Amino acid sequence: MLKKTIEEALNKQVNRELYSSYLYRAMTVYANSINMKGSGHWLALQSDEEYMHAMKILTYIEEAGGEVKLLPIEAPKTPWKTLGEVFSEVYEHEQKVTKMIHDLVELAGKEKDFATLNMLQWFVAEQVEEEANASEIVEKIKQVGDVIGHLFYLDKELGKRG
Ligand code: FEO
Repeated sequence: MLKKTIEEALNKQVNRELYSSYLYRAMTVYANSINMKGSGHWLALQSDEEYMHAMKILTYIEEAGGEVKLLPIEAPKTPWKTLGEVFSEVYEHEQKVTKMIHDLVELAGKEKDFATLNMLQWFVAEQVEEEANASEIVEKIKQVGDVIGHLFYLDKELGKRG
């Protein structure tokens, strides 16, 4: 049985993961609208991953005997002005999510909830990867600058994400 403090915090995290999915979907729409279809593809897959993160926590709440509460999902602020702005926001957002996961780990530790701590370890590792991926793209966009040909090349590379 989950403690109420943990249950509430996990339900909030489900909501934040769903928001992440929503945010990246809005970015997908923007990228496609400026003909950066490779970036759109990358962001769509990211959006799908975030939905999967939400479902992973939701399923855990169910299995641990907690009550799932689906909260309203905030609307992402749009539109963006450049692709660089989009990926900088992805990186900033992932850093915020990492902090949320670490706060959850701290809470689970305080509550001596070892099962939740164990479940969260996957997310701790995942966030290292998520931040590294976003940071790498931000750096590449900086290197490419305003050279449109290079930007299209980078877009094509992002489109290869499997
Ligand atoms: Fe679910 Fe990108 O953190």
